[in-house]
Parts: sequence; C-alpha cells; structure tokens
Amino acid sequence: MLAFLCLVLHLVSAYGSASKGKNIIILAGQSNMSGRGGVQNNTWDGVVPLQSKPNRSILRLTANLTWVEAHEPLHKDIDFQVTCGVGPGMVFANRVLQRDPSLGPLGLVPCAVGGPIGTKISEWGRGTFLYKQLVRRAKASRVGGGSIRGLLWYQGESDTVSEMDAKMYKRRLLNLFNNLRSDLGSPSLPIVLVAIASGNGPYVETVRKAQLGFKLQKVRCVDAKGLPLLKDKRHLSTPAQVRLGRMLADAFLVQEHSASPSKDTSSP
Ligand SMILES: *[C@@H]1O[C@H](CO)[C@@H](O)[C@H](O)[C@H]1NC(C)=O
Ligand SMILES: *[C@@H]1O[C@H](CO)[C@@H](O)[C@H](O)[C@H]1NC(C)=O
Ligand SMILES: *[C@@H]1O[C@H](CO)[C@@H](O)[C@H](O)[C@H]1NC(C)=O
Ligand SMILES: *[C@@H]1O[C@H](CO)[C@@H](O)[C@H](O)[C@H]1NC(C)=O
Repeated sequence: MLAFLCLVLHLVSAYGSASKGKNIIILAGQSNMSGRGGVQNNTWDGVVPLQSKPNRSILRLTANLTWVEAHEPLHKDIDFQVTCGVGPGMVFANRVLQRDPSLGPLGLVPCAVGGPIGTKISEWGRGTFLYKQLVRRAKASRVGGGSIRGLLWYQGESDTVSEMDAKMYKRRLLNLFNNLRSDLGSPSLPIVLVAIASGNGPYVETVRKAQLGFKLQKVRCVDAKGLPLLKDKRHLSTPAQVRLGRMLADAFLVQEHSASPSKDTSSP
C-alpha cells in the first residue's frame, strides 16, 4: 500500500515537473546578439540595466551544459575570445515573463559567436562548428524537461562586404532555418530575425532586403535600423540592446499568442 502510494506520488511529481518544463529559447548570430553593450577598450563596465536584471525564472545553459540562473553577460563562456557585455537576451526574457507570466520559466541557450572578426552566414552552414555547437546545445537543453519555443537570430553584418555573400544571403538563411528545424525535429519552430542597421561593408541594403522580405512560416522580422551604436560605431549600445530586446519579445509573443496546436501553417 505504502509502495503504491509512493509510486503514485512519484508519477504525479514527475508529471508536474515535466508539464512545467522550461520554455527554451536559442540565441544565435554574431556580436550584436552575443552582446557588446557597455564594452570599451576590451573591458565591460558591468552596468546592468533594470530591464536585464536576473530573475529566478530565467535560466541559462552554460558552455558545459548545466543550467544556472542567467545574468549578463549571457555569452561570456560561448563567445569567449572577446569581452562580452549586454545583449538583447535578458531584456527579451524579462519582458516575455512580464507580459505573459503564465508561460513559466525560460531557459536561454546562448549560441551567438562574434569573436574578433565576426561570423559570416557561411560559417553557420550545416556541418560547420557553429552549426554543430548550436544543435548540440539545443538538444542538450531539452534533457530534463522543456521544449524549444523559439530561435532569435541576429547576424548578417559580416555578409555585407562581398557582393557575392550579400546576394547569397537569402538562400543561405533559408537553408539554415530549414536545416535547424529539421535537425531539431521542430518543423514549425518560431523564429524572430533581426534586420541589420548597417554593416562592415557596402552591401548592407542587399542583406537588409533579404531579411525584411524573408518569407517562411513562423518567421518574423524586427528592424534594428536607427538603434544607437557605441562609440566604436560597430556595436549596439546598452540602451539600444534594451530596445531591441523588447522588440524581440513583442514579436515572439505575437507568434506565441497566435499559435494553435491544430493549425500550424500560419505565415507572418
Ligand atoms: C580607451 O583607450 C584609449 C586609447 O588607448 C584611451 O584614450 C581611452 O581613455 C580609454 N578609455 C577608457 C574608458 O578607458
Ligand atoms: C559548469 O559551469 C558552471 C557555471 O559556469 C560552473 O559553476 C560549474 O562548476 C561547471 N561544471 C563543470 C562540471 O565544469
Ligand atoms: C521575476 O519575474 C516574475 C514574473 O514577471 C515577477 O513576478 C517577479 O517579480 C520577478 N522577480 C524579480 C526579482 O524581479
Ligand atoms: C551591430 O549592429 C549594428 C546595427 O545593425 C551594425 O551597424 C553593426 O555593424 C553591427 N556590428 C557588427 C560587428 O556586426
């Protein structure tokens, strides 16, 4: 009798924790997703805006695949060749929690890498180090409960240097999203894509056009144009990241709220 009761209690608690699984969000792209807000002369000023503060309900998957309470800089152990600062991830998570408290805990999976010279989208193709690292981390994040609810993608600045790269951007982005959805077994994974505001080369408009006009089900685009840059003129400042994080959250929630389990084919 006692054994039976224990078994029932065990099943109930196992079910309880599974149903309260984490809402997993993957962050990927290059430096502006990784975060350089507050970084000057290779030093982060340590200033965390109110909107990026930690919360017990926001977790982060470390480089060694353990969950810890999330705090800035989110990408410290992933984009480790450079000094990381404030990115959009914590703002995003705080705003999602605030606007939809019923959603439950968020698990952030930082995967963005800018490194010293940025990353081109060809470096994210299937089979590359960055691609495999993302898939490995995303799969590991599901162990122990939770499901992948979204991908935030902010990249493209490095593809504005060569005309060829800029022209190939749309196709490469499409391949990337299709491959990821397929390899993660999540064919309608919601994605929010950021349109770059400027870039390292002359073909910014070509890449922006590809991003703003990108059409694939469950992909939304937010525009970073007009957000303030740091003195280095290369990265988004902390206040810019706060604005971007909010835009990403609002775009994500529009999709989240329009999602219905039976109808999976809505386009943006
Ligand atoms: C950063 O370095 C430059 C040149 O080395 C120096 O002039 C400037 O004062 C430094 N700024 C800060 C905030 O340390
Ligand atoms: C994994 O990373 C976390 C946070 O960075 C650290 O506290 C923990 O000791 C690490 N665990 C292992 C096994 O390295
Ligand atoms: C964490 O987020 C929840 C949900 O928005 C909120 O109620 C709570 O006050 C937050 N905690 C802190 C310490 O900000
Ligand atoms: C960061 O984003 C801004 C705005 O899109 C862009 O001007 C800048 O080139 C980006 N920086 C890098 C290093 O990609």
